[in-house]
Amino acid sequence: MQITSTIADTRAALKHRGRVVLVPTMGNLHDGHIALMREAAKHGDTVVASIFVNRLQFGPREDFDEYPRTFAADCARLEAVGVAHLFAPDEAAMYPQPQRYHVDPDPAQAGILEGAFRPGHFRGVATVVLKLFHIVRPDAALFGKKDYQQLMVLRNMTRELALPVEIVAHETVRAENGLALSSRNGFLAPEERIEAPRLYRALTRIRDAIRGGDRDFARLEGEAVAELDGRGWKTDYVAVRRQADLQTPSDGDEALVVLGASRLGQPRLIDNVEV
Ligand code: PAJ
Repeated sequence: MQITSTIADTRAALKHRGRVVLVPTMGNLHDGHIALMREAAKHGDTVVASIFVNRLQFGPREDFDEYPRTFAADCARLEAVGVAHLFAPDEAAMYPQPQRYHVDPDPAQAGILEGAFRPGHFRGVATVVLKLFHIVRPDAALFGKKDYQQLMVLRNMTRELALPVEIVAHETVRAENGLALSSRNGFLAPEERIEAPRLYRALTRIRDAIRGGDRDFARLEGEAVAELDGRGWKTDYVAVRRQADLQTPSDGDEALVVLGASRLGQPRLIDNVEV
């Protein structure tokens, strides 16, 4: 695997490499990330992974400094799965001066759900992903449905700014007990690991109720929050939304998704299931 850390080296290395597929990550790679790498190989000739813990998308009280950095282990996993190229810039390569130009996603899409609890988060995500696209110049890029709102924001950015990149979505990869794999799961205490799949189960119960014809979304959401918080979770939201734009569904809407975010001890877990 070839590794570059500057913009110039990356551009030079990725010339004449056929169809390039990018999988952006913040490292601390788990089986979910690796599944994206495997899928990426089906969408082009050269798979490029990036690892960069993007300060811009972390709020002032969020876990930027604590975010796990496991570069050597990540490289070994990428090598093992056959990734051709890794772009791993440091802060100075990515942000040589403070970033003053940003992508500002529509607040109707980026100010709700995660965006309501993490102001500026999607501005930071959209800005770094646009920059990564301009550095790597991929033909396609893969993102996980685990971060459903992120995927929607990046799809819309790509469409509305006419970026020449095909956005490919990958299903959420889960542990056997249903828990969505996440770098933040490492912060769960042993007894919290047993409790953690409850968020997924609460979301699937709502999905099953909706499939069974229940359209009382407010009650279903409220019951899930009460169940979680009754067991010591601190839930930010459980919400039934339209898949396309994550707005509140109207009567006829069929393509729905149930999203949730809740704190279990220190870590904040997010998950979602499509109906
Ligand atoms: P990160 O959290 O490292 O995730 C990198 C990619 O892996 C994202 O597309 C995310 O949705 C996907 N992913 C994470 N866990 C997954 C799981 N269990 N199943 C399927 N896909 C999963 O998301 C980011 O980094 C950053 O915001 C980034 C896009 C790199 C911009 O900085």
